[in-house]
Amino acid sequence: MKRLFISLIVFCIFTCLSAYDAKKIIRIGTDQTDLVLQVAPNGRLYQVYLGDKLLHDKELNCFFPYVKSGSDKSVSTRGWEVYAGSGAEDFFEPAVAITHSDGNPSTVLQYVSSEQKSIKGGIETVIRLKDSEYPVEVMLYYRAYPKENVIKTWSEIKHQEKKTIILWRYASTMLYFSGNNYYLTEFSSDWAKEAQMNSQQLQFGKKIIDTKLGSRAAMHVHPFFELGLEQPVQETQGRVLVGTMGWTGNFRFTFEVDNAGNLRVIPAINPYASHYELRPNELFVTPEFIFTYSNKGTGQASRNLHDWARNYQLKDGCGSRLTLLNNWENTCFDFNESLLADLMKEANHLGVDMFLLDDGWFGNKYPRNSDTAGLGDWEVMKKKLPGGIPTLVESAKKVGVKLGIWIEPEMVNPKSELFEKHPEWVISLPNRKLYYYRNQLVLDLSNPKVQDFVFGVVDCILTNNPEVAYLKWDCNSPITNIYSPYLKNKQGQLYIDYVRGIYRVLKRVKEKYPEVPMMLCSGGGARCDYEALKYFTEFWCSDNTDPIERLFIQWGFSQVFPAKAMAAHVTSWNKNTSVKFRTDVASMCKLGFDLGLKDLNNDELVFCRQAVVNWTRLKGLILDGQQYRLVSPYEGNHMSVMYVNQDKSKAILFTYDINPRFAEKLLPVKLQGLDSFKRYKIKEINLMPNVSSDLIFDNQIYSGDYLMKVGIDAFTTNRAFSRVIEITAE
Ligand code: DGJ
Repeated sequence: MKRLFISLIVFCIFTCLSAYDAKKIIRIGTDQTDLVLQVAPNGRLYQVYLGDKLLHDKELNCFFPYVKSGSDKSVSTRGWEVYAGSGAEDFFEPAVAITHSDGNPSTVLQYVSSEQKSIKGGIETVIRLKDSEYPVEVMLYYRAYPKENVIKTWSEIKHQEKKTIILWRYASTMLYFSGNNYYLTEFSSDWAKEAQMNSQQLQFGKKIIDTKLGSRAAMHVHPFFELGLEQPVQETQGRVLVGTMGWTGNFRFTFEVDNAGNLRVIPAINPYASHYELRPNELFVTPEFIFTYSNKGTGQASRNLHDWARNYQLKDGCGSRLTLLNNWENTCFDFNESLLADLMKEANHLGVDMFLLDDGWFGNKYPRNSDTAGLGDWEVMKKKLPGGIPTLVESAKKVGVKLGIWIEPEMVNPKSELFEKHPEWVISLPNRKLYYYRNQLVLDLSNPKVQDFVFGVVDCILTNNPEVAYLKWDCNSPITNIYSPYLKNKQGQLYIDYVRGIYRVLKRVKEKYPEVPMMLCSGGGARCDYEALKYFTEFWCSDNTDPIERLFIQWGFSQVFPAKAMAAHVTSWNKNTSVKFRTDVASMCKLGFDLGLKDLNNDELVFCRQAVVNWTRLKGLILDGQQYRLVSPYEGNHMSVMYVNQDKSKAILFTYDINPRFAEKLLPVKLQGLDSFKRYKIKEINLMPNVSSDLIFDNQIYSGDYLMKVGIDAFTTNRAFSRVIEITAE
């Protein structure tokens, strides 16, 4: 009798809990956005809302659970399952697909539990799902950052089946939209053509943006996108979602418009050649997908991401940055100890913080005098630099600049001692002719021994030379000859384990050398994602430093990354433009130089030195301020961008005339982000010696209201002409 009574109570509690859970609402909210999930009567989890913040908490219970079992079978009534599995009732692209150890290819996930807790800057929600028929579990993670209005989400998959299962889809998350029109902006790329923005309307079916390049993964497309809801994305108005994946390898964004006109967005590791064998109890963690939703266009969305990145993701996001003189464009491989000592003096004369020694300083048996040999042999080339790194450090110290060093530790030239010693460390097909990209091959980072070697390259430089103050980490080749000698019959894991191998190395580097700033470079900007940027303070946007091209490239990257993370150098690309124009373009990001001062005339040198002083004085504003993109280079012959500090007491405006037409009608530049009631003094800076500023920018005073509504006549009809205007509240 007693047992019956207890069973009855347990049954009642269980039924109540199930009934409660069957309506359970999970709100993932920021100050501006709500993502609302709900458990339906069938016990599965659905997205019921994603959009502007809902003001009345009570109405969270009003959502109509989509699923009405046995009724209408159209997609919308079956619901928007948060992490849809393959092989059962969903007809469209799944989030997860598994072949179980018995060969069954279906996955149906039931809601089990969820919890929320505070984390630095926000709230973390963890949701547990479980397959109804197999011991497979999925954990969905969401981190909401209320103030920055950013949500970061990822998933974890594990199982307790008796044998290995095969994962062949493993999305980070899945988001749904219901509307009449969707517009996608993608960021295509190539060497010297990074972050080119193109928009298109999404129609029925799938649009896929992906890469299969492995190491130099984002060479042809970057891991971010913008989505315009109902209208193409605009800078200051309209509902947009800007999303990006933190994965330094093959990624795939799927945008699928279904039969009912709904859109699902699936960010994921590209499953291409990557059927992943997951052992019992092994955890498969997907990359983070980071997104922000804005109803005020992409300008606000970008500012959300910039703030979030500086606060929580970017290495030393709240710290400062070093100006530098690099030698790659100036000397290429052709330098020696005394030339470098001279360049360090030039760095000092220019007023920058550091001299960055690029490619070509290593290799003895196979000297690195071109890109055909030496990669992998990380001992200093005695012939070029007999005193080694210590002498370089000394020369730098003598003239009061820091020293930075270039490395490319994931790669090897076949003409190297490393290749001779360890051919088994190289990704290469055993039975075919080898294909080279830039005469090099990729080391097998899935192999722990190779990870140790790569860590050792960095460790050795920094332990033996603790005064080396900066590293530039390059990666010039995609993975070719795709076969890992280490993974043997598990080749489906190569692309994924390669990236995980890099992260293991980078984590060790960051743990041991947390203070060392590092630049992420990949033959220009072919690596730029928020997982890598946990370990790097900045990235190299492009080898293309033609300032006109840079206006487009920097405009593109700024959609997702703050100026602080974007390295921009003044070089001699496009000598048809003035040194001032080139410097003003680089000054809107993290400023550096890569030219010989001997190529400059006296006025240009005086100008550059003053520009460094100005930039250093204003770098807090440029690197940490709110960025407003005012005039797009895609829309005409001009470009303008500005930065405003926290309390709106200081701003800086950059304006560029690209190739204006004769007698073109010029519109004033209307500023943004100022305080309407403050009065601001405007003063043109970065002027060439003996050139005085236009009278209208010589300490004139206007209200913020005037500057934002009427604007100022900063554009001209001059070709490749620029202005930098400092704006200071009285
Ligand atoms: C490609 C990079 O983008 C350049 O800046 C330079 O470091 C070269 N590699 C060196 O090989």
